[in-house]
Amino acid sequence: MIRLRGVRKSYTTNKVVNEVLKGIDLDIEAGEFVGIVGRSGSGKTTLLNIIGALDSHYDGSVEVDGKQLRELDDVEISAYRNQNIGFIFQSFYLLEHMTCVENVALPAVFARGESAVPHEAALARAREVMEQVELSEKCDALPNTLSGGQKQRIAIARALFNRPKVMICDEPTGNLDVATAQSIVALFHRLNQEQDITLVIVTHDRLIAGACKRVVHITDGRIVDGSGALFDAAEPEPEPQPEPEPEPEPEPRARAERPLDDQPEPRLTSEAGLSA
Ligand SMILES: Nc1ncnc2c1ncn2[C@@H]1O[C@H](COP(=O)(O)OP(=O)(O)O)[C@@H](O)[C@H]1O
Ligand SMILES: [Mg+2]
Repeated sequence: MIRLRGVRKSYTTNKVVNEVLKGIDLDIEAGEFVGIVGRSGSGKTTLLNIIGALDSHYDGSVEVDGKQLRELDDVEISAYRNQNIGFIFQSFYLLEHMTCVENVALPAVFARGESAVPHEAALARAREVMEQVELSEKCDALPNTLSGGQKQRIAIARALFNRPKVMICDEPTGNLDVATAQSIVALFHRLNQEQDITLVIVTHDRLIAGACKRVVHITDGRIVDGSGALFDAAEPEPEPQPEPEPEPEPEPRARAERPLDDQPEPRLTSEAGLSA
C-alpha cells in the first residue's frame, strides 16, 4: 500500500547540510499497525511528513496504492491527504472557541467538489465519530473543559471524520499519563481491528511500541525493520550508572570499544505490550 524506496531528505541551515534520511526503504501494507521508534532527531517526524504528503521536498520515491506522490499536483495532493490520511499529533490542535462536535466536523470545511458535505450531514457524521471514540456526551462541550485524554480522543474523532485508510500519529501519547495513554492505545487497536485502518505511529513510549504489531527503527537515517527491532530508549531513561568496582574489569578494552549506540536494549515484541 505504502512503498518508500531510497527516500533521502536533508535540511540546510546556514549553509550547513544536515542529512536526516539517508535512503529509507519501507513497505507498509493495508491494515498494518506499525510503530516507528528512534532517538530524538533521528528523522521520525520528517519521515511521517513525507508519508503523509505534508512534505514533497525529498529524493527517492513514495508510492501509495500504486501512485507516485511526487507526480500528483497540489489539488490531487490535498485530495489524497483529505481522503486517505488522518493525522494525530502530540498537541491536539483543537479550536477552543468551537464545540467538540464542531471541531470534529472541521474536515468538512475543507472538502470541495464531490466530497463537499452539507452542514447538517457534517454534524451528523461528527456525532457518529464522537460515538466511536466514546465521547458522545461531550459533543456540545468546549475543548478546554476536557482532560488531555479526552482532547486526544476528539482529535482522533476529527481524523476519523473522512474515513481515512491510514492514520499517521506523531507521539500521540506524548502529553498523556500512562493510564490515559493506555486507553488511547486500546482505541487505536480497536480502529485497526474493527475498521481495518492502517496505523503508523511514531513513539517513544514503550507501551505503544509494545502494542504495535510491527516495530521499525530509524537509526542513522535508515530503517531497521522486523519484529525483533530494538527499542531505542535513549532519551527518557538514562542507564543507571553502577558504582565503580574495586576489582579491575576482566575485559576493560572490549567494554571501552563498544560504541554507546550499541548498548543492549530490551526486546519488544507485540506480546510485550498490551494484550489486545
Ligand atoms: N524544518 C527544519 N529545518 C531544519 N532542520 C530540521 C527541520 N525539521 C527537522 N530538522 C532537523 O532534522 C532532524 C530530524 O528531525 P525530526 O524529523 O523532527 O526528528 P524526530 O521526529 O525523530 O525527533 C533534526 O536534527 C532536526 O533538528
Ligand atoms: Mg518528532
